[in-house]
Amino acid sequence: MASTVCPDPVPTRMGEMRSPDQPRVAVVGAGRAGLAVALGLSSGPGACDVTLVCRSADRRAQIQRHTLPETLTIIQTPSQAQTLADIVAFATADRDLTKAATQWENSRAASDRQVWLHLSGAASPEVLRSGSVAAAVGSCHPLAAIPDPLVAARNTGDLVAAATAPLDGAFFALAGDDSALPHAHWLATALGGSPHVVPLGRRMAYHGAAAVVANDLVALLAIGERLCAQCELPSAVARPALVHLARTALDAVTAASLAPGASLADGLTGAVGRGDAATLTGHLEALSGGGRDVHRQLSMILLELVMDVGGLSQEQATHVRRALDSRD
Ligand SMILES: NC(=O)c1ccc[n+]([C@@H]2O[C@H](COP(=O)([O-])OP(=O)(O)OC[C@H]3O[C@@H](n4cnc5c(N)ncnc54)[C@H](OP(=O)(O)O)[C@@H]3O)[C@@H](O)[C@H]2O)c1
Repeated sequence: MASTVCPDPVPTRMGEMRSPDQPRVAVVGAGRAGLAVALGLSSGPGACDVTLVCRSADRRAQIQRHTLPETLTIIQTPSQAQTLADIVAFATADRDLTKAATQWENSRAASDRQVWLHLSGAASPEVLRSGSVAAAVGSCHPLAAIPDPLVAARNTGDLVAAATAPLDGAFFALAGDDSALPHAHWLATALGGSPHVVPLGRRMAYHGAAAVVANDLVALLAIGERLCAQCELPSAVARPALVHLARTALDAVTAASLAPGASLADGLTGAVGRGDAATLTGHLEALSGGGRDVHRQLSMILLELVMDVGGLSQEQATHVRRALDSRD
């Protein structure tokens, strides 16, 4: 077995219990996040023993066509052998978490000394709580958009690299029992992430931020594609072009807005930042229905950002506001 280095001492606010030096991890669910986490933990210099529960024979076969880390074992269903796992990471959809935890318990894989974590940013760790097993429960949510590693590896054939890339450097939101937090901290660190405790009562606001940034971006791309269709650009051309544009917009924010004291407005390009009211009016005319409302509302937010850093004169801002307020 490859040895695993325990992370730096966990802050006392995370509880006194330390994660084991050489944890064995079971990951339940071999979808996008589960497969990525299992491959991330079982590869690289700190690789540990990982058992991945993948109930679909087809998917197991697809995964096993790749070169896999030696410390990764894939099984169909958990059994008593998995009582050796120190950490159980439930990587099912949120609606299936309680059922998956109950199945784990009924398969006799459960042990009182285990720590059960899920990867959800929205669900409470309590959804895993068992009435008969004293396992500590927690949550360890990677703030990353994780595609299916099998799909992401299509171009390169390197499944491990495709799986680990989204997790490396990600923020991880931790919650749960005091005795589960050090294990969640270890898991996040072992995946190259940056762990932070997010209070349970605030998780919906935190997860809302994740949804707006990761999911709404896809809706914005869909609006962009519809506009491109108006000028006879088929999606086969428009989609890669718009994805490139989105990537460069993020690069601009990365370059200009991440330094201490910098504003998001510093990385902004486009009509609002330039105070170009006539162009904004043209965009709103080209857009229809929901797309127009979305652009109007988001441009209002951009105007606030720009005005916070004194990026436009009051007169320019008035013109922009009028363009955004005007109804047809
Ligand atoms: N993908 C992301 O970007 C991302 C990012 C951060 C956090 N997460 C979190 O990760 C969790 C999983 O999300 P996902 O995107 O990976 O979902 P997903 O791709 O739909 O994968 C869920 C997997 O769980 C399996 N499963 C369901 N019940 C099971 C059970 N009882 N035993 C074994 N396997 C079971 C499913 O198998 P079948 O296909 O056989 O049904 C499926 O492979 C969610 O809590 C999500 O919030 C996801």
